[in-house]
Amino acid sequence: MRVLIVGSGAREDALSWRIAESPSCDAVFAAPGNAGTASRGVNWEVAATDGKGLAERCVREAIDLAVLGPETAIAAGVGDRLRDAGIAVFGPNRSGGRLESSKIFAKRFMERHEIPTARAAVAHSLEAASKALEEWRGPVVVKADGLAGGKGVVVAPTVEAARAILADWYGGGRVPGGGSDVLIENRLEGREVSVFALCDGRAIAPLGAACDYKRAGDGDTGPNTGGMGAYSPPDGFPDDLDDRVRERILGPLLRGLCAEGEEYRGVIYCGLMWTAQGPYVIEFNARFGDPETQALLPRVGGDFALLLHSVARGAMDLSLATLSQRRCVGIVLATDDYPRSNTALQGLNGDVSLAEGCRAFWGASQRVDATVSTSGGRVLTVTALGDDLAQARLKAYEAVRRLAGRLGTDALTYRTDIALR
Ligand code: AMP
Ligand code: GLY
Repeated sequence: MRVLIVGSGAREDALSWRIAESPSCDAVFAAPGNAGTASRGVNWEVAATDGKGLAERCVREAIDLAVLGPETAIAAGVGDRLRDAGIAVFGPNRSGGRLESSKIFAKRFMERHEIPTARAAVAHSLEAASKALEEWRGPVVVKADGLAGGKGVVVAPTVEAARAILADWYGGGRVPGGGSDVLIENRLEGREVSVFALCDGRAIAPLGAACDYKRAGDGDTGPNTGGMGAYSPPDGFPDDLDDRVRERILGPLLRGLCAEGEEYRGVIYCGLMWTAQGPYVIEFNARFGDPETQALLPRVGGDFALLLHSVARGAMDLSLATLSQRRCVGIVLATDDYPRSNTALQGLNGDVSLAEGCRAFWGASQRVDATVSTSGGRVLTVTALGDDLAQARLKAYEAVRRLAGRLGTDALTYRTDIALR
């Protein structure tokens, strides 16, 4: 098979690695790709959101499977364009992607299909939002409706704090993501876990789960980020996590998709809060998580490319891949100004090979001969497998220190408490 991965982050580098290792894969391509994908396949100079350009190139290069990485590609309708051109696509069409691209659509969908989620009100103006808050007590979560790259959610400790955020968003004319619609919801209490489910339009099944660290600083301090580290499988959750997620979330989700005529083919990322009453959905994403994917894929064996192809064809065959019981820890190395701004770096050592069981995945970057340049932000995810979480964690931090010492920059930082609970 000839496989295209759409996107340019460390998640896409990990997907390209795992797919290239699959027995059925003959060649991997990435658009636009990064320094990692360039080392094992061909990068196309086509933007991840350019559906027309991607469709033409896929046909010309006889691509058998396209895997959509980022939400921006899905929301731009890349899945629709590629399917129209006869390409098998892992990733939903734009309409299925609304589960992620509109928080209001997702909330209404969950309400229609009785999927456990926080109680919420929708508002289209500051006036309506203020009115909705009149009946609220205690902590409130304020969410912008559209895609805002992780900047559209604020957990406000009090109703007054929520009012101030809304006044700022509407007053300055800048609701994150650019729209004017917001969701106001109850804060859920519990522990967060990300579950990745594969759906081929007719069946749905969990692939694996991970825990993500979203805040920039140790001890969950500092601003929200795209994710500073992750480990898989999650630790300290009930043994029957998969069964309970299947019963309470995935079953109703699939029935809802089918009832609404949505033939969803790809992965659904369920961002869950595990409460005293069991799992509640915080959010759905229509794609793999970053950095969770980097910590999940080293545990996956078998023919992952063929598994994704079976999902893309609407005939999911879970027996094509296996999931090891080993633990994997992923640590993100980011420029020290992330997420406020991004310092560009040039001339990084492009050789990031590590000891057995460890791997480094490049974020958005370009390879220039033996060196790598990057526009900054999340530059690398370093992962390690271990027999238990403590061992995986130790190996991952050892690899981080080793790599940091030879990259040729001191502008990178990382959290020191990933997988330490
Ligand atoms: P989201 O983009 O919807 O995943 O929200 C980002 C983060 O905000 C989540 O990972 C949670 O930590 C937090 N969050 C969002 N909604 C809620 C909620 N209803 N209760 C508690 N925390 C929330
Ligand atoms: N790590 C969170 C996300 O991918 O949305």
